[in-house]
Amino acid sequence: MSKNIIIANWKMNLQPEEVKKLTSNIIKGIANNINESKKILCVPFLYIETAKKLINETKNVFVGAQNCNENKKGAFTGEISCEMLNSMGVKYVIIGHSERREYYYETDEIIEKKIFQLISNKMCPIFCCGETLEARENKSYFDYVDSQIDKSLFRLNSNQISKVIVAYEPIWAIGTGKVPQLKEIEEMHKFIRKKINNKYGKIISQNISILYGGSVNASNAKDIFNLPNVNGGLIGGASLNSNEFLGIVKELK
Ligand code: PGA
Repeated sequence: MSKNIIIANWKMNLQPEEVKKLTSNIIKGIANNINESKKILCVPFLYIETAKKLINETKNVFVGAQNCNENKKGAFTGEISCEMLNSMGVKYVIIGHSERREYYYETDEIIEKKIFQLISNKMCPIFCCGETLEARENKSYFDYVDSQIDKSLFRLNSNQISKVIVAYEPIWAIGTGKVPQLKEIEEMHKFIRKKINNKYGKIISQNISILYGGSVNASNAKDIFNLPNVNGGLIGGASLNSNEFLGIVKELK
């Protein structure tokens, strides 16, 4: 069965002292309430080492990154490769977040290349997909997500797709406090799982983790995580506050 996973996405926030405090508080909270779900803290590149040291050997907690470059290496000023991340002990990287698609013009093709780079380094892509408000309103949201998955994921073979964590994040729900109705979340997660089932078969589709992201907080997490096809969450704003984040973590068994 799919692993339950909670991912913190700190985005471009926090100063070094705040990172130490937040990470320590999260680790302390998790150590007091050990459960089997996996927790991945996706921190800015500069803080990977600090977070990793503080996490140390804490069970089921890992450090992750928020992006990587799609090329193996070379003259790409300012970029960070998968190999570099791997050598720092990072195994999980968020790919195709809507903020990267929108502000840094990442296309489905670039996202696919990043995913292949990660897989060839034996790392796990956290693949984000999700529709715009326009696509939600004109009811083309299934087609929107369908095309994102076809273009960036469906050239992976069965072994490769098994390394991927999927995060469904409707763009209009990210950082807005607006959350889709529970039945809308479940409907999309079911659609994604069925799509994976049709291409890769039952075992792979049952094992892949499909997370929900977009304005998850300690009050709405329980209902969202109880949906049959939801295996956890990708948390932005609420992951910057240890109490709020731990409140979410506790809802995922
Ligand atoms: P949010 O962000 O939880 O602040 O809505 C989610 C995300 O961007 O992954």
